Amino acid sequence: MRVLGIETSCDETGAAVYDTEAGLLAHALHSQVALHAPFGGVVPELASRDHVRHLVPLVREVLDASGTKMHDLDAIAYTEGPGLGGALLVGASLANALAFAIGKPAIGIHHLEGHLLSPLLEERRPAFPFVALLVSGGHSQLFEVRGVGEYRLLGDTLDDAAGEAFDKTAKLLGLDYPGGPALARLAERGRKGVLTFPRPMLDSGDLAMSFSGLKTAVLTEIRRRGAAGLGEQDKADIGLAFQDAVVDVLATKAMRAMRETGLRQLVVAGGVAANRALRARLQNETARDGSEVFFPDPKFCTDNGAMIALAGALRLEGGRASAGAGAFEVRPRWPLVEMTRPSGRVT
Ligand code: KG4
Ligand code: ZN
Repeated sequence: MRVLGIETSCDETGAAVYDTEAGLLAHALHSQVALHAPFGGVVPELASRDHVRHLVPLVREVLDASGTKMHDLDAIAYTEGPGLGGALLVGASLANALAFAIGKPAIGIHHLEGHLLSPLLEERRPAFPFVALLVSGGHSQLFEVRGVGEYRLLGDTLDDAAGEAFDKTAKLLGLDYPGGPALARLAERGRKGVLTFPRPMLDSGDLAMSFSGLKTAVLTEIRRRGAAGLGEQDKADIGLAFQDAVVDVLATKAMRAMRETGLRQLVVAGGVAANRALRARLQNETARDGSEVFFPDPKFCTDNGAMIALAGALRLEGGRASAGAGAFEVRPRWPLVEMTRPSGRVT
């Protein structure tokens, strides 16, 4: 089965073609970073308009690159939510229009389900069941994943998501949007042991997380020194100490989730899964206790069409997709645990 995937939930326009026999055949991405950079963050209206400009050319590009004609497609998967309403509508509209034109199903995919299943794009891939650490700009959650559509929430952040904490802390340090990757780069020049920030909720005895206090600790440190007293090396030291604290909390909670569930495979997905320090730490921890960790390729950690095409194909394969009435909606707010089986909205 061959599925076109479309992602337009935020500031990346993504398209991809996934085949259940041959795997990922083509993917293309247009980043809106340059568009939003002057504003220091994503401007929703500009995001929607930019998706309108780039989505059709990207779809053409992946169809051509994979040698796929519209009528070869078995379904069109798109991100139904969560995300920016207007941005989601661009992808949902095109997906439903194309599906209507070829008489095939349009499958609404939960963005986080896409992230969560994205390690299955890799050759070395986990088998169900596994624990998933989902760390993106909007979420820091641990799930027990028993199969496609079977997601039990084990732990959540009480306030900021890990990616959000990276972005806000980057801003405090004067780094440009998008702050997370810039902060991670800065941290590579930081000196170990110069500074230590608190590890919020590290010893809370459960799987809950919290990152807003850490951001405040960074702010206090910056204020203590005074903006003028903050050189490049100081910023790098602060960046490293911040990253160490986030990585420590995420890794400790993920390994605790493995122990509590008795599962031996850990999947890490979402934008923060691209973080090299987090990847290295979890490689070490799992190697030490004989369990396994799986990451998507760094280019598939942040938003992309490949994960949506894959999730659509898995839902189609599982028989949980059929042609519907042609009406559709998007869900800007949509907790993943609301996805009860059988699911994958099909319109
Ligand atoms: O998954 P994603 O592309 O979008 C959402 O679904 O939110 O994740 C974006 C988030 C941003 O907060 C970004 O700063 C963070 O992932 N991020 C990183 C890195 N690359 C992206 N955070 C830390 N280190 C990185 N290398
Ligand atoms: Zn995402």
